Amino acid sequence: MKQDFKECPGSIDESKLFGFKSWQEHVAGVVSPLAAVSGYKANGRSNLTMESWCAVHGDRIVFASVERGSHLYGILRERGEAVVNFPTAGCFNRCMRTIELNGWDEDEIESAGLTAERAVEVDAPRVAECPLSLECRVLWEHEAGPGSSDVTVCLKIVNVAIDQELCKEGLLYNIRSRSDIETGVKTGPEAGVIRSLGSYDRLPE
Ligand SMILES: Cc1cc2nc3c(=O)[nH]c(=O)nc-3n(C[C@H](O)[C@H](O)[C@H](O)COP(=O)(O)O)c2cc1C
Repeated sequence: MKQDFKECPGSIDESKLFGFKSWQEHVAGVVSPLAAVSGYKANGRSNLTMESWCAVHGDRIVFASVERGSHLYGILRERGEAVVNFPTAGCFNRCMRTIELNGWDEDEIESAGLTAERAVEVDAPRVAECPLSLECRVLWEHEAGPGSSDVTVCLKIVNVAIDQELCKEGLLYNIRSRSDIETGVKTGPEAGVIRSLGSYDRLPE
């Protein structure tokens, strides 16, 4: 039996959901792939930004939310080119390190112990350790919501660089930090890999 929520459940302290835009996402806990987006800052140093609110359709990738104050947003506006890298478990924490190593003068890929490699179609570095890198150009951006501090950005994928390792390990997904609706107790966030349950017709009615 489902419960309906139009407002934040009383058990959850909305002011403590830092890192999340609102309680809806926190309660629903829908997964999305984990990406690390690379580009060059205006000073030529590499930048890496963790990005999990994203989806791919054909030759387009949409970032549902990019903070206006982030280096990534500046790169997308000024350069219009970036690489969306998908880490596996083996390099995920190095990618995450770039959140601390986020200074303007920091060469973030190198400082995090990762390797920058040349992209084929865009002027942005790829992360060698990530087995899937999508080279992208910005198509459009849109205000995410009235007065919001984040924007939705759509990019065109102009080159796909993929290593066979990805087939063995699979994409990492972000399992949202969730709050128990009854108790308000928070869990996660965690990372996971999709396990196949077989073809659609093998699933029960
Ligand atoms: C797992 C994870 C996912 C994230 N996803 C996003 C996202 O989708 N959009 C966003 O604006 N920030 C996201 N962030 C926060 C940014 O990665 C973080 O603010 C980063 O320091 C911004 O870096 P930059 O200033 O170099 O762009 C995420 C952080 C983590 C840890």
